[in-house]
Amino acid sequence: MPARRPGGAFAHWLLAACVLLAAGAARSQTPAAADPPRIGQPSRDSVWVPTPERVIRRMLQMADVTEADLVVDLGSGDGRIPIYAARHFGARAVGVELEENLVRYSIARAQAEGVAERARFVRGDLFDYDLAGATVIALYIGPSVMRRLKPRLLALAPGTRVVSHFFDFGDWAPDETIRVEDRTAHLWVVPADVRGCWRVEAGADRFSLAIEQVYQKIDVRAERDGRRVPVLGARLRGAEIEFTVFDPQADPRSHRGRVEGERMRGTTEAADAPTWFAVRTPCADGAAR
Ligand SMILES: C[S@@+](CC[C@H](N)C(=O)[O-])C[C@H]1O[C@@H](n2cnc3c(N)ncnc32)[C@H](O)[C@@H]1O
Repeated sequence: MPARRPGGAFAHWLLAACVLLAAGAARSQTPAAADPPRIGQPSRDSVWVPTPERVIRRMLQMADVTEADLVVDLGSGDGRIPIYAARHFGARAVGVELEENLVRYSIARAQAEGVAERARFVRGDLFDYDLAGATVIALYIGPSVMRRLKPRLLALAPGTRVVSHFFDFGDWAPDETIRVEDRTAHLWVVPADVRGCWRVEAGADRFSLAIEQVYQKIDVRAERDGRRVPVLGARLRGAEIEFTVFDPQADPRSHRGRVEGERMRGTTEAADAPTWFAVRTPCADGAAR
């Protein structure tokens, strides 16, 4: 068993505890605009503790960040996540940070690294920032902020990715969790709302679906002509849905598709019904599932 390195998981637990505990206690010592950034400096909802670069890289990889993305780091500290996203992934990025000394430092660093056009910094409260247009949200901030942000993040466009260093959303389980040396980071993909009843057409085939949903977890039941048809492998990731219908009289049919509000459409592997679409309908028993 390898010996524990100093500065490893235990040290990170201590840092995380600082993120949690020190903010409220030290609010009165908020740094002045000209102060150099200092690890542990206080702010409204968290102290400043930076995410190591190797963790940032894996978080952005896990979120599949590309040039097409707008990455928003809520509580951006010294700006390292937006700058990394712009510099190494070609993304546009915004850091939202309350502390003026950190914002000034971030802007200077983005300029020095030649990414000031793609990595911007806004001084303000993260709770006031309009997230419209963001495709990736980055976080390293304590549980009470995570709890308050959760409903807003769930209301973002399906497929928006949320990555967090260390902290999670409680009952909203991550889609993926990675360990990078001694650190943990999580990914959530904002799920489309698919709950309720759907009428499906695939070639000449007609069947109905009743979907129960808790965050990204879905339970799908299917019926054809009033008879239950087994469904397996139902999965939702953002707006992408898939499920396989197991028909007693035919081969299993995998359906993959996209949710677009009250409609879904996609493909199957079956030659006689290569495409399918579905429309959300009132449930027969009137229940909202
Ligand atoms: C733990 S640090 C994370 C910094 C950076 N995201 C990273 O991962 O390296 C949290 C940051 O949130 C900032 N912060 C705390 N409360 C805030 C608020 N209400 N609005 C904006 N920034 C805030 C702190 O000043 C600090 O820089």
